[in-house]
Amino acid sequence: MTTITVLRGDGIGPEIMDATLHVLDAMQLGLQYEFAGAGMVALEKHGELLPQATLDSIARNKIALKSPLTTPVGEGFSSINVELRKRFDLYANVRPAKSFPNTKSRFPAGVDLVTVRENTEGAYIGEGQQVSDDGATATLTQKVTRKGSERIVRYAFDLARNTGRKKVTVVHKANILKSTSGLFLKVAREVAAQYPEIQCNELIVDNCCMQLVMKPEQFDVIVTTNLFGDIISDLCAGLVGGLGLAPGANIGEHAAIFEAVHGSAPDIAGKGIANPCALLLAAGQMLDHLGQPEQAARLRSAIVATLEAKDALTPDLGGEGNTLSFAKAIASRL
Ligand code: NAI
Ligand code: MG
Repeated sequence: MTTITVLRGDGIGPEIMDATLHVLDAMQLGLQYEFAGAGMVALEKHGELLPQATLDSIARNKIALKSPLTTPVGEGFSSINVELRKRFDLYANVRPAKSFPNTKSRFPAGVDLVTVRENTEGAYIGEGQQVSDDGATATLTQKVTRKGSERIVRYAFDLARNTGRKKVTVVHKANILKSTSGLFLKVAREVAAQYPEIQCNELIVDNCCMQLVMKPEQFDVIVTTNLFGDIISDLCAGLVGGLGLAPGANIGEHAAIFEAVHGSAPDIAGKGIANPCALLLAAGQMLDHLGQPEQAARLRSAIVATLEAKDALTPDLGGEGNTLSFAKAIASRL
Protein backbone atom coordinates (compact mmCIF):
# COMPACT_ATOMS: atom_id res chain seq x y z
CA MET A 1 0.00 0.00 0.00
CA THR A 2 1.53 3.32 -1.09
CA THR A 3 0.44 6.54 0.60
CA ILE A 4 0.65 9.79 -1.33
CA THR A 5 0.09 13.34 -0.13
CA VAL A 6 -2.75 15.03 -2.02
CA LEU A 7 -3.00 18.82 -2.29
CA ARG A 8 -6.42 19.75 -3.68
CA GLY A 9 -5.33 23.30 -4.39
CA ASP A 10 -7.21 26.47 -5.30
CA GLY A 11 -9.56 27.56 -8.09
CA ILE A 12 -10.16 24.61 -10.43
CA GLY A 13 -7.79 22.54 -8.24
CA PRO A 14 -10.41 20.61 -6.22
CA GLU A 15 -12.47 19.93 -9.38
CA ILE A 16 -9.60 18.42 -11.38
CA MET A 17 -8.27 16.56 -8.31
CA ASP A 18 -11.67 14.92 -7.65
CA ALA A 19 -11.79 13.88 -11.32
CA THR A 20 -8.23 12.53 -11.18
CA LEU A 21 -8.83 10.56 -7.98
CA HIS A 22 -12.01 9.15 -9.55
CA VAL A 23 -9.90 7.70 -12.37
CA LEU A 24 -7.10 6.51 -10.04
CA ASP A 25 -9.70 4.80 -7.82
CA ALA A 26 -11.13 3.04 -10.88
CA MET A 27 -7.61 1.70 -11.57
CA GLN A 28 -7.58 -0.06 -8.16
CA LEU A 29 -3.90 0.62 -7.54
CA GLY A 30 -4.12 0.35 -3.78
CA LEU A 31 -3.11 3.99 -3.36
CA GLN A 32 -3.87 5.66 -0.05
CA TYR A 33 -4.44 9.42 0.01
CA GLU A 34 -3.30 11.76 2.76
CA PHE A 35 -5.02 15.11 2.16
CA ALA A 36 -3.02 18.18 3.13
CA GLY A 37 -3.72 21.89 2.83
CA ALA A 38 -1.80 24.56 0.93
CA GLY A 39 -2.59 27.80 -0.85
CA MET A 40 -5.55 30.11 -0.22
CA VAL A 41 -7.60 27.36 1.44
CA ALA A 42 -4.80 26.77 3.98
CA LEU A 43 -4.34 30.51 4.51
CA GLU A 44 -8.00 30.91 5.43
CA LYS A 45 -8.10 27.78 7.60
CA HIS A 46 -4.67 27.78 9.28
CA GLY A 47 -3.38 31.31 8.65
CA GLU A 48 -0.52 29.92 6.57
CA LEU A 49 -0.06 29.32 2.85
CA LEU A 50 2.14 26.30 3.46
CA PRO A 51 1.44 24.72 6.88
CA GLN A 52 4.13 22.65 8.60
CA ALA A 53 1.76 19.65 8.68
CA THR A 54 1.73 19.70 4.88
CA LEU A 55 5.53 19.80 4.66
CA ASP A 56 5.69 16.93 7.17
CA SER A 57 3.23 14.89 5.11
CA ILE A 58 5.27 15.32 1.91
CA ALA A 59 8.51 14.53 3.76
CA ARG A 60 6.93 11.37 5.18
CA ASN A 61 5.28 10.04 2.00
CA LYS A 62 7.93 11.37 -0.41
CA ILE A 63 5.29 11.62 -3.13
CA ALA A 64 2.69 14.34 -3.63
CA LEU A 65 0.03 14.87 -6.25
CA LYS A 66 -0.69 18.56 -6.34
CA SER A 67 -3.37 20.78 -7.85
CA PRO A 68 -2.51 24.37 -8.77
CA LEU A 69 -2.18 26.86 -5.93
CA THR A 70 -2.95 30.54 -6.04
CA THR A 71 -0.15 32.72 -4.70
CA PRO A 72 -1.66 36.08 -3.65
CA VAL A 73 -0.08 38.90 -5.66
CA GLY A 74 1.59 41.87 -3.98
CA GLU A 75 0.99 40.92 -0.35
CA GLY A 76 4.54 39.91 0.48
CA PHE A 77 3.94 36.22 -0.18
CA SER A 78 6.53 34.30 -2.15
CA SER A 79 5.44 31.59 -4.59
CA ILE A 80 4.48 28.36 -2.82
CA ASN A 81 5.64 26.38 -5.83
CA VAL A 82 9.12 27.89 -5.70
CA GLU A 83 9.12 27.33 -1.93
CA LEU A 84 8.23 23.64 -2.29
CA ARG A 85 10.93 23.13 -4.92
CA LYS A 86 13.50 24.75 -2.63
CA ARG A 87 12.38 22.94 0.55
CA PHE A 88 12.63 19.48 -0.97
CA ASP A 89 15.46 20.26 -3.41
CA LEU A 90 13.29 19.15 -6.35
CA TYR A 91 16.00 19.82 -8.88
CA ALA A 92 14.53 18.16 -11.96
CA ASN A 93 11.43 19.60 -13.60
CA VAL A 94 10.35 17.01 -16.14
CA ARG A 95 7.75 18.08 -18.68
CA PRO A 96 6.78 15.66 -21.45
CA ALA A 97 5.00 16.94 -24.58
CA LYS A 98 3.43 14.34 -26.83
CA SER A 99 0.94 14.86 -29.65
CA PHE A 100 -2.67 13.94 -28.87
CA PRO A 101 -5.57 13.36 -31.26
CA ASN A 102 -8.36 15.93 -31.65
CA THR A 103 -6.68 18.92 -30.05
CA LYS A 104 -6.25 22.35 -31.56
CA SER A 105 -2.53 21.72 -32.05
CA ARG A 106 -0.86 22.53 -35.35
CA PHE A 107 1.07 19.28 -34.94
CA PRO A 108 -1.55 16.54 -34.60
CA ALA A 109 1.22 13.92 -34.77
CA GLY A 110 4.95 13.62 -34.53
CA VAL A 111 5.77 15.55 -31.35
CA ASP A 112 7.13 13.34 -28.59
CA LEU A 113 9.70 15.10 -26.47
CA VAL A 114 10.58 15.74 -22.83
CA THR A 115 11.96 18.97 -21.45
CA VAL A 116 14.22 18.49 -18.43
CA ARG A 117 14.52 21.85 -16.72
CA GLU A 118 16.96 22.65 -13.91
CA ASN A 119 14.58 23.67 -11.14
CA THR A 120 16.68 25.20 -8.34
CA GLU A 121 19.27 27.66 -9.67
CA GLY A 122 20.01 29.89 -12.66
CA ALA A 123 18.05 33.13 -12.88
CA TYR A 124 15.45 32.04 -10.31
CA ILE A 125 17.53 31.99 -7.13
CA GLY A 126 15.93 35.27 -6.07
CA GLU A 127 19.24 36.85 -5.09
CA GLY A 128 20.68 40.25 -5.87
CA GLN A 129 17.40 41.75 -7.05
CA GLN A 130 18.03 45.48 -6.91
CA VAL A 131 16.61 48.57 -8.52
CA SER A 132 18.62 51.78 -8.19
CA ASP A 133 17.11 54.65 -6.19
CA ASP A 134 16.25 56.58 -9.32
CA GLY A 135 14.52 53.50 -10.74
CA ALA A 136 16.75 53.60 -13.80
CA THR A 137 18.87 50.48 -13.33
CA ALA A 138 17.94 46.97 -12.22
CA THR A 139 20.20 44.03 -11.50
CA LEU A 140 19.84 40.40 -10.55
CA THR A 141 22.21 37.57 -9.75
CA GLN A 142 22.23 34.30 -11.64
CA LYS A 143 23.95 31.27 -10.22
CA VAL A 144 24.96 28.07 -11.99
CA THR A 145 26.98 25.42 -10.18
CA ARG A 146 28.92 22.40 -11.37
CA LYS A 147 26.92 20.21 -8.97
CA GLY A 148 23.57 21.60 -10.13
CA SER A 149 24.49 21.29 -13.80
CA GLU A 150 25.92 17.83 -13.46
CA ARG A 151 22.93 16.32 -11.68
CA ILE A 152 20.36 17.75 -14.11
CA VAL A 153 22.29 16.72 -17.23
CA ARG A 154 22.85 13.28 -15.74
CA TYR A 155 19.12 13.10 -14.97
CA ALA A 156 18.34 13.86 -18.63
CA PHE A 157 20.75 11.23 -19.98
CA ASP A 158 19.54 8.61 -17.50
CA LEU A 159 15.97 9.39 -18.50
CA ALA A 160 16.91 8.91 -22.16
CA ARG A 161 18.68 5.65 -21.37
CA ASN A 162 15.87 4.26 -19.20
CA THR A 163 13.02 5.18 -21.54
CA GLY A 164 14.60 4.19 -24.84
CA ARG A 165 15.09 7.72 -26.09
CA LYS A 166 18.00 8.29 -28.47
CA LYS A 167 19.01 11.93 -28.34
CA VAL A 168 19.60 14.69 -25.79
CA THR A 169 19.74 18.32 -26.89
CA VAL A 170 21.64 20.65 -24.56
CA VAL A 171 20.12 24.14 -24.80
CA HIS A 172 22.25 27.10 -23.74
CA LYS A 173 23.40 30.64 -24.49
CA ALA A 174 27.08 30.16 -23.77
CA ASN A 175 28.10 32.53 -26.56
CA ILE A 176 26.75 35.52 -24.56
CA LEU A 177 26.25 34.26 -20.99
CA LYS A 178 29.81 33.01 -20.91
CA SER A 179 30.11 32.30 -17.20
CA THR A 180 26.74 30.75 -16.28
CA SER A 181 25.61 29.13 -19.52
CA GLY A 182 29.28 28.46 -20.29
CA LEU A 183 29.72 26.36 -17.16
CA PHE A 184 26.47 24.51 -17.83
CA LEU A 185 27.60 23.64 -21.37
CA LYS A 186 31.08 22.57 -20.27
CA VAL A 187 29.67 20.22 -17.62
CA ALA A 188 27.02 18.95 -20.06
CA ARG A 189 29.76 17.93 -22.52
CA GLU A 190 31.61 16.04 -19.79
CA VAL A 191 28.48 14.16 -18.74
CA ALA A 192 27.46 13.44 -22.36
CA ALA A 193 30.81 11.73 -22.96
CA GLN A 194 29.78 9.12 -20.36
CA TYR A 195 26.72 8.12 -22.43
CA PRO A 196 28.24 7.14 -25.79
CA GLU A 197 25.11 5.28 -26.92
CA ILE A 198 23.00 8.46 -26.69
CA GLN A 199 23.34 11.11 -29.36
CA CYS A 200 24.00 14.57 -27.94
CA ASN A 201 23.69 17.86 -29.75
CA GLU A 202 23.91 21.49 -28.63
CA LEU A 203 21.59 24.34 -29.58
CA ILE A 204 21.62 27.99 -28.67
CA VAL A 205 18.29 28.79 -27.03
CA ASP A 206 16.95 31.26 -29.62
CA ASN A 207 17.67 28.89 -32.48
CA CYS A 208 16.11 26.09 -30.42
CA CYS A 209 12.81 28.02 -30.17
CA MET A 210 12.72 28.50 -33.93
CA GLN A 211 13.54 24.83 -34.55
CA LEU A 212 10.84 23.72 -32.09
CA VAL A 213 8.18 25.63 -33.97
CA MET A 214 9.43 24.67 -37.45
CA LYS A 215 10.36 21.02 -36.92
CA PRO A 216 9.46 19.74 -33.44
CA GLU A 217 9.72 16.09 -34.46
CA GLN A 218 13.54 16.35 -34.48
CA PHE A 219 13.59 16.69 -30.65
CA ASP A 220 13.70 13.86 -28.13
CA VAL A 221 15.04 15.03 -24.73
CA ILE A 222 15.90 18.68 -24.09
CA VAL A 223 18.00 19.64 -21.06
CA THR A 224 18.50 23.24 -20.03
CA THR A 225 18.79 25.78 -17.24
CA ASN A 226 15.87 27.13 -15.19
CA LEU A 227 14.73 30.22 -17.14
CA PHE A 228 15.17 28.72 -20.62
CA GLY A 229 13.41 25.54 -19.44
CA ASP A 230 10.46 27.50 -18.06
CA ILE A 231 9.86 29.18 -21.41
CA ILE A 232 10.67 26.24 -23.67
CA SER A 233 8.40 23.84 -21.77
CA ASP A 234 5.41 26.17 -22.21
CA LEU A 235 6.26 26.50 -25.89
CA CYS A 236 6.25 22.69 -26.08
CA ALA A 237 2.87 22.51 -24.30
CA GLY A 238 1.59 24.80 -27.07
CA LEU A 239 2.89 22.36 -29.69
CA VAL A 240 0.64 19.57 -28.44
CA GLY A 241 -2.64 21.30 -27.65
CA GLY A 242 -2.14 23.69 -24.78
CA LEU A 243 -2.07 23.86 -21.00
CA GLY A 244 -4.99 21.49 -20.42
CA LEU A 245 -2.77 18.64 -21.63
CA ALA A 246 0.60 19.58 -20.08
CA PRO A 247 1.85 17.68 -17.00
CA GLY A 248 5.03 18.22 -15.01
CA ALA A 249 7.02 16.42 -12.35
CA ASN A 250 9.30 18.06 -9.79
CA ILE A 251 11.79 15.44 -8.75
CA GLY A 252 14.47 15.38 -6.06
CA GLU A 253 16.49 12.74 -4.25
CA HIS A 254 14.09 12.56 -1.33
CA ALA A 255 10.71 13.64 -2.65
CA ALA A 256 8.75 14.24 -5.84
CA ILE A 257 5.72 16.41 -6.57
CA PHE A 258 3.51 15.81 -9.60
CA GLU A 259 1.30 18.54 -10.97
CA ALA A 260 -0.32 20.16 -14.00
CA VAL A 261 1.71 22.92 -15.62
CA HIS A 262 -1.30 25.25 -15.61
CA GLY A 263 -2.54 27.45 -12.78
CA SER A 264 -5.77 27.68 -10.78
CA ALA A 265 -7.74 29.21 -13.69
CA PRO A 266 -9.92 31.57 -11.64
CA ASP A 267 -11.87 32.51 -14.78
CA ILE A 268 -13.49 29.06 -14.98
CA ALA A 269 -13.25 27.93 -11.34
CA GLY A 270 -16.46 26.52 -9.84
CA LYS A 271 -18.04 25.85 -13.23
CA GLY A 272 -17.00 22.21 -13.39
CA ILE A 273 -15.63 22.56 -16.93
CA ALA A 274 -11.85 22.44 -16.38
CA ASN A 275 -9.91 19.85 -18.35
CA PRO A 276 -8.57 17.23 -15.90
CA CYS A 277 -6.07 15.73 -18.41
CA ALA A 278 -2.96 17.65 -17.34
CA LEU A 279 -3.30 16.44 -13.74
CA LEU A 280 -4.21 12.93 -14.92
CA LEU A 281 -1.09 12.84 -17.09
CA ALA A 282 0.91 14.04 -14.08
CA ALA A 283 -0.59 11.12 -12.14
CA GLY A 284 0.76 8.94 -14.99
CA GLN A 285 4.23 10.38 -14.41
CA MET A 286 3.77 9.57 -10.72
CA LEU A 287 2.96 5.93 -11.55
CA ASP A 288 6.12 5.75 -13.67
CA HIS A 289 8.07 7.16 -10.73
CA LEU A 290 6.48 4.58 -8.41
CA GLY A 291 7.79 1.83 -10.66
CA GLN A 292 4.43 1.03 -12.28
CA PRO A 293 5.05 1.86 -15.96
CA GLU A 294 2.37 -0.55 -17.21
CA GLN A 295 -0.26 1.23 -15.10
CA ALA A 296 1.01 4.59 -16.36
CA ALA A 297 0.68 3.32 -19.94
CA ARG A 298 -2.82 2.02 -19.17
CA LEU A 299 -3.87 5.45 -17.92
CA ARG A 300 -2.37 7.26 -20.94
CA SER A 301 -4.03 4.86 -23.38
CA ALA A 302 -7.42 5.51 -21.79
CA ILE A 303 -6.89 9.27 -22.13
CA VAL A 304 -5.83 8.96 -25.79
CA ALA A 305 -8.77 6.65 -26.57
CA THR A 306 -11.20 9.16 -25.01
CA LEU A 307 -9.70 12.01 -27.03
CA GLU A 308 -9.88 9.87 -30.17
CA ALA A 309 -13.56 9.12 -29.56
CA LYS A 310 -14.23 12.81 -28.75
CA ASP A 311 -16.20 11.51 -25.78
CA ALA A 312 -17.25 14.15 -23.22
CA LEU A 313 -14.33 16.46 -24.05
CA THR A 314 -14.22 19.69 -22.05
CA PRO A 315 -14.89 23.05 -23.78
CA ASP A 316 -11.15 23.95 -24.08
CA LEU A 317 -10.90 20.95 -26.45
CA GLY A 318 -14.02 22.02 -28.33
CA GLY A 319 -16.32 19.55 -26.58
CA GLU A 320 -19.48 19.87 -24.52
CA GLY A 321 -18.48 17.64 -21.64
CA ASN A 322 -17.47 18.68 -18.14
CA THR A 323 -14.66 17.78 -15.77
CA LEU A 324 -16.43 14.80 -14.22
CA SER A 325 -18.08 13.39 -17.36
CA PHE A 326 -14.69 13.57 -19.12
CA ALA A 327 -13.06 11.72 -16.21
CA LYS A 328 -15.82 9.09 -16.24
CA ALA A 329 -15.35 8.61 -19.99
CA ILE A 330 -11.63 8.05 -19.38
CA ALA A 331 -12.28 5.65 -16.49
CA SER A 332 -14.62 3.61 -18.70
CA ARG A 333 -11.75 3.03 -21.16
CA LEU A 334 -9.13 1.84 -18.69
P1 NAI B 1 -3.81 29.59 -15.60
O1 NAI B 1 -3.00 28.46 -16.12
O2 NAI B 1 -4.55 29.38 -14.34
O3 NAI B 1 -4.88 30.02 -16.74
C1 NAI B 1 -4.52 30.43 -18.05
C2 NAI B 1 -5.69 30.17 -19.01
O4 NAI B 1 -5.78 28.76 -19.28
C3 NAI B 1 -7.03 30.57 -18.44
O5 NAI B 1 -7.85 31.07 -19.48
C4 NAI B 1 -7.61 29.26 -17.93
O6 NAI B 1 -9.03 29.22 -17.93
C5 NAI B 1 -7.04 28.25 -18.91
N1 NAI B 1 -6.83 26.95 -18.27
C6 NAI B 1 -5.85 26.62 -17.39
N2 NAI B 1 -5.98 25.35 -16.99
C7 NAI B 1 -7.06 24.85 -17.62
C8 NAI B 1 -7.72 23.57 -17.61
N3 NAI B 1 -7.27 22.55 -16.87
N4 NAI B 1 -8.83 23.41 -18.38
C9 NAI B 1 -9.27 24.43 -19.14
N5 NAI B 1 -8.71 25.64 -19.20
C10 NAI B 1 -7.61 25.86 -18.44
O7 NAI B 1 -2.82 30.84 -15.49
P2 NAI B 1 -2.99 32.26 -14.77
O8 NAI B 1 -4.36 32.77 -15.02
O9 NAI B 1 -1.83 33.03 -15.22
O10 NAI B 1 -2.82 31.99 -13.21
C11 NAI B 1 -3.88 31.86 -12.27
C12 NAI B 1 -3.33 31.54 -10.89
O11 NAI B 1 -2.66 30.28 -10.91
C13 NAI B 1 -2.29 32.55 -10.34
O12 NAI B 1 -2.60 32.78 -8.99
C14 NAI B 1 -0.98 31.83 -10.44
O13 NAI B 1 -0.09 32.23 -9.44
C15 NAI B 1 -1.39 30.39 -10.25
N6 NAI B 1 -0.47 29.41 -10.88
C16 NAI B 1 -0.17 28.29 -10.16
C17 NAI B 1 0.62 27.31 -10.69
C18 NAI B 1 0.88 26.09 -9.88
O14 NAI B 1 0.36 25.92 -8.80
N7 NAI B 1 1.71 25.17 -10.35
C19 NAI B 1 1.21 27.43 -12.04
C20 NAI B 1 0.80 28.63 -12.74
C21 NAI B 1 0.00 29.58 -12.17
MG1 MG C 1 6.22 28.48 -16.20
